[in-house]
Amino acid sequence: MSSQSILLGVNIDHVATVREARYKESPRACGQFVEPDPVTIALLCEKAGAHGITVHPREDARHIQKADVRRLRECIQTRLNMEMAATDEMLAFALEILPETICVVPESREEVTTEGGLDVAGQFDRIERIVKAAADAGIETSLFIDPDQNQIEASAKTGAKYVELHTGAYANAYYSKERGPEYDRLVAGAELAAELGLVVNAGHGINYVNVSEVITIPFLNELNIGHSIISRALFFGIDEAVREMKALIAGV
Ligand code: PXP
Repeated sequence: MSSQSILLGVNIDHVATVREARYKESPRACGQFVEPDPVTIALLCEKAGAHGITVHPREDARHIQKADVRRLRECIQTRLNMEMAATDEMLAFALEILPETICVVPESREEVTTEGGLDVAGQFDRIERIVKAAADAGIETSLFIDPDQNQIEASAKTGAKYVELHTGAYANAYYSKERGPEYDRLVAGAELAAELGLVVNAGHGINYVNVSEVITIPFLNELNIGHSIISRALFFGIDEAVREMKALIAGV
């Protein structure tokens, strides 16, 4: 797939992080002045050309709240991708919301953001059950995994349509000698995933600098990017932040 056609999903969690920093204890009744509103940002992302909106309602509700996800479901015109822990509670919520896709991620309360990839091989039955329950409800599943052969093969066996390759280790190594090996792992992972019939997405730690190399990974369908776009928006506004990232993804 040429880089021109790689899609951009914008993760808006950190808009809610800023809101929660001030308004965590406030009621969110309609008409209250509670800013910044992640739903408004999502609509602006779509206007700027984002192909989808991603949120991760976490067990500790530290940023996006379930109420936000319900409002997003009502308002957005593109695709809603809901990241979720592999729990019964989150599966039930997904079945209520019916996002176009779920992306199953590992989740621990201690981490600042999602750290490692999902251990699909180690909890195969649970993941396969989630994939099936989602499919029965018309939801497509993505599995957020490290680019490891074992995890990619297990992901294909679950029946999931997508994998999202974890680019965090590559992004962390960007200014070190580990960057080359991490890039090579992603390339090999993408090739294997595509060979096994999986649609290949990627995400975590992608920014305005490393994206130019990330898009050279073969078979990419979509990049999910959050922190760098929301950070850029502080300086230039969300419209320009999204448009600039889209231009870089298109290799312009
Ligand atoms: N994809 C997944 C599965 C994630 O968990 C995250 C972080 O929430 C992202 C993409 C976006 O990462 P970042 O905010 O570093 O762009």
